[in-house]
This record gives sequence, C-alpha cells and structure tokens, in this order.
Amino acid sequence: MPILGLKSNGPATPAHFALEPLVRPNILTLVPYRAARDDYSDGVLLDANENAYGPSLPSHTATDATPGASALALMNEKEIASLNRYPSPTHDDLKRRIASMRGLPSEDWVFLGVGSDEVIDMLYRVLCVPAKDKVLTTPPTYGMYAVSAQINDVGVVKVPLITEGGAFQLDEKAMDEAFKANPDLKMLFICSPGNPTGTLIPLDVIKRVAENTLFKGVIVVDEAYIDFAPEGTSAVELVQQYANICVSQTMSKSFGLAAIRLGYLLASPELVQILTNAKAPYNVSLPTASLGLAAVSDEGRAVMARNTITLNANRTKLIADLQQLPSIGRVLGGNDANFILAEVLDAPGGKPSNPRAVSVYKQMAETKGVVVRFRGGEIGCEGCLRITIGTETECATAIARLAELLA
Ligand SMILES: Cc1ncc(COP(=O)(O)O)c(C=O)c1O
Repeated sequence: MPILGLKSNGPATPAHFALEPLVRPNILTLVPYRAARDDYSDGVLLDANENAYGPSLPSHTATDATPGASALALMNEKEIASLNRYPSPTHDDLKRRIASMRGLPSEDWVFLGVGSDEVIDMLYRVLCVPAKDKVLTTPPTYGMYAVSAQINDVGVVKVPLITEGGAFQLDEKAMDEAFKANPDLKMLFICSPGNPTGTLIPLDVIKRVAENTLFKGVIVVDEAYIDFAPEGTSAVELVQQYANICVSQTMSKSFGLAAIRLGYLLASPELVQILTNAKAPYNVSLPTASLGLAAVSDEGRAVMARNTITLNANRTKLIADLQQLPSIGRVLGGNDANFILAEVLDAPGGKPSNPRAVSVYKQMAETKGVVVRFRGGEIGCEGCLRITIGTETECATAIARLAELLA
C-alpha cells in the first residue's frame, strides 16, 4: 500500500525492518484533511472562514508595557497583518532550515510538532493500536513516554537502565529478553542525553539495537538536550542509514524557546509523511514558525552556541561547588545536559536518603526561594535532586542556599 503524498524514499536498511506493517491500518489508509488553500493560496481568500478585518491586536505603536508588544516586534509587518489567515500547514522553509542545520537532505526528513511532546504523542497515534500494542522504555527516563502511552491506551514494557555507579546505560541483555517476550513492540524510546540521567547512549549501542533482528519496531532517540553534549554524539547521522531510527529534538532547551512550543522529528520521509497525513492541519502556528525560523538562522544559532557554552561552564562550576557541600554525595550520570543529578546523604559521608532529599527539596522551595526537582523516586536515583543549570548568579544562589540548609 503506497504512503499517500510520499515524494522521496529513505533508507532501505536494516533488512528486518518494514515501516508499513507497524502503522495502524486506519492511518495508512487515511486521506488527509485538505483545505482549499492547499490548492489555491492567492487572490481574494474567502475559503477558510477567517476574519477579513485582520488580527485584533494593539496597534503597532504599542509601548513595551502593552502585553505582547515586544513579541510583536519580533514578527515583521507582513506576518502580523496575516495573523487572521491560517498558517502554512507545512512550514517548508522552517523544515528546510532545520534539515540543513542537522545535516539532512531536505524538508522531507523533518516533521514539526507543538513541542516534542506532540511529536511523541503523534508517534503513538500513528503506530500503536489502543488496548493492543506496546512500547519499550528504559527507566529512569522522561515521564511523558509513559503518560502518552496511558493516554493512548498503549502498554509499556520497562527495561531499566544499568544504574550501578550512575552508569545509566542500556541493559542490552535484558532488552533482548523483553524483545523475545514481546515480539510485536511498536516503539523503543532511548533518551540521550537522558532525563533525569544526563547521560548519553553511545551511537554504537544505538546501532546495535537498530541491527538487532529481535526488535522490529521504531527506535525513537529523544535528543531534547543534545546541544549540551559534545559534538559527534547525535544519532541524527544514523537516520539516513537506518529506516528504524528517528530522532526527536526541541527548541525548548538549547534554543531557550520553551514557550513557543516547537519540537521536531528527524526521520525517514516515509515516517514523516505518515505523521504529516495524520496531524492536525495547522498544528504549528505562524508566530511559532517565525520565531523558530529566526532561531535557526545563522545569528540565532550563534546565540544558541554561546549560551550553551556558558551553561556548560556553569554546569562544571556547579558540580565542583556541590562536591564541596556536606551531605551531598555523588553527582550521578554523564552530565551532558543542562541539569545535574546530585545525591543528598542522610549525614556527611553517609548514604543517599530519600527522606532527607524530599525535605531539602521542600525547604529549598518554601524557605529559600530555589526550586529544584526531587527525583529520588526513580530507579537508581535514590536521594537525588535534579538541578537545572541556571545563570552564574542563579547557580551561586542555589549553592549558597543549599549550604545553609545542609550546614
Ligand atoms: C527528554 C525530554 N524530551 C522531551 C521534552 C519535551 O520537550 P518539548 O518542550 O519540546 O515538548 C522534555 C522536556 O523537559 C524532555 O526532558
């Protein structure tokens, strides 16, 4: 069955993988929603029940005190004037820029979502039959894989990472057992660098999983934090070689644009087309696409690179400062993201302690004005707080307040 709308093809390897049998039959046969605008976009536009008098917004002379005024300043006049029109359903210019930024051949390899959370949800919706299919996750990991699974009534097989010594690596032997017990798994989520582990999964390990004939599903490598990791660690380079590997990334972290809600999947044209056929027609708004385009411009990327270097330097300093504090144990994992995972001990030189970590977490927020995240309930994270890397001043404040509490 041909994939409707498919223009180019992705890799034909590995031989044991075929996408079409994985896709829900109702999605494969879906005729996507089409607007008149898909065929005609110029002239007197009376096809989409828009407001001919334009956007109801403060005038462009609005002062900075007007809510939204400075955000408007980031859009050009033409874009502001066209806010009454539905946006592009495809945003091909933005997709082309993202493809070129990440070294992929064309926009056919990029699917845009309302944050990578929507991308994750869309993958469930196109691949997993509710109340029947299952996916595999490797905890401790990002919570939305399980939440999205539950929303879509999809089962989750959990194969914990090897956590000894804060290694946080895939347990390939246990995964093999899970693959044998669940030969019909639809997806496998690999978070790299992991949340909350901050740890990269090496590319040769990901390749081994892709070549493992026991697993016939799609490998989703979640690289929300990849720009904080060293060069050459992204699995994007595998997307053109392996049809069963796709990579999700986001503008929310390194680009500092969490509020615009823009994430994307880098995947074979086949998977991109299937997702495109099933998405809401105008999921990504024009303001989001405009800001996204500005962010992936040469200038935007230079700012991102500078901020990432600064945050990584702040991370190194925060880790060193934490290790000077009494009752802080190890900093676990690889520290390749914009956060760290640190153990709170029951006493100086003692054992990691969840009760004390919870108490520190609460007191930090309630009496010290610093909000971090308790992660001690996660496998291999006993007593752990996850601390996001802030500015130099924010990190210094966090350390000072922690020192007061732990003294
Ligand atoms: C690993 C991981 N993936 C995805 C997301 C969601 O990102 P977005 O803002 O693009 O929805 C997060 C957010 O914290 C995350 O930690």
